[in-house]
Order: sequence, then C-alpha cells, then structure tokens
Amino acid sequence: REDKLELIAQKIKHFPDFPSKGILFRDICPILKDPEALTAVTDLFEERVREAYPRVQLIVGLDARGFLFGPLLAQRLGVGFVLVRKKGKLPGPTTSVAYTLEYGKAEAEIQEDAVEAGQKVVLIDDLLATGGTLYAACELMKKQKAEVLGCMVVIELKDLNGAGRVQPESVFSLVQY
Ligand code: PRP
Ligand code: HPA
Repeated sequence: REDKLELIAQKIKHFPDFPSKGILFRDICPILKDPEALTAVTDLFEERVREAYPRVQLIVGLDARGFLFGPLLAQRLGVGFVLVRKKGKLPGPTTSVAYTLEYGKAEAEIQEDAVEAGQKVVLIDDLLATGGTLYAACELMKKQKAEVLGCMVVIELKDLNGAGRVQPESVFSLVQY
C-alpha cells in the first residue's frame, strides 16, 4: 500500500500560476499515462470501498476528471457508473445545482433517472480543493434521495478545507497537500 501511494504521489506534477495567478495546479495526467500508477489508484479506491462501503450500488463520477477513475473502479466492483456533468451536456430530464470552485463557478447536472431513491452511492473525483464541486454533487444526490456513503478523490488540498464544506459526508483521499 505504501509503495502504491508513493508511486502515485511521485507521478503528480505541479504547475504554478495555472489556470490563473496564485493557483498551484496539481496535474494527474502522468498517473493516467503510467499503467502501474493508474492500477495503483484503482486498487486503493477498490480497497477503500470494499472496507468502508461494501454495500455500494453505484459509483458517481464528477465532470471531467472523475470520469477517468470512476468507471475503472465501478468495473472492479461490479456496479454501474453514473455521470454528474457540467450543465447543458446531458439529454432528457435533468436536475442541477450551482456551485463555486477554486477558480470560478459552474453548475452540476445529472439525469433524473440516473440514480434512484434509496440507492447507495460513492462519489469520485480527481481532486478536492474548496469542496464546491463535491458539495454540489452531494446536493444532487440529496435531490434524487440517494444515500451518499462517502466521497473519494486522488488528491486533497488540505489548506482549502474542502472536506469541511462537504460535511457531513466523509472524503477519503490518497495524496494530501
Ligand atoms: C476541478 C477538479 C475538481 C474540482 C475541485 O475541476 O477536477 O472537479 O475542480 O475544485 P473544488 O473542490 O474547489 O470544487 P474543474 O471544475 O476545473 O473542471 P474539469 O474537471 O472539467 O477540468
Ligand atoms: N489541480 C487540478 N484541479 C484543480 C486544482 C488543482 O490544483 N485546484 C482546483 N481544481
């Protein structure tokens, strides 16, 4: 487990002043480029879900980088994968929630029939910054009357206290800064 965490941490690249001045951007692209590192992420997420949320019925991924990790995990667990997208991308009846993030604002949207009342879900994204995105996704789940078992991210930016914003839902992260 420690070896896997070290491999993942070592793959994350840091870009000062992107996408705007003062932001230190953590880039997960090198993880995806390395099959061993991507497998390590999926292994550790799978381990966490099997331990903490064995009754999970759906993995819900957040636009856009939650889509990179979520389906791999869902396949491992033998459950479905559902998308929370930025507004305007999904056809059919949808429901949405507005939110702010570290460098802007957006609106998260889900297809109304994607999650049923009472379904147990785990939310997944690449990174937790201010928590605005995950908070909005949790609100969407509330609207759908789904039960959020927990949230998981590859990277957590501790200084921004995103976990506080997402409370009472818990956030599990692999790498913290
Ligand atoms: C980033 C990141 C998370 C979110 C975290 O995505 O991938 O989804 O911001 O920030 P928060 O905790 O302050 O909400 P972004 O909205 O930049 O979009 P992208 O994934 O489409 O690039
Ligand atoms: N990296 C990637 N996405 C982000 C970041 C970051 O540092 N901060 C907010 N969203």
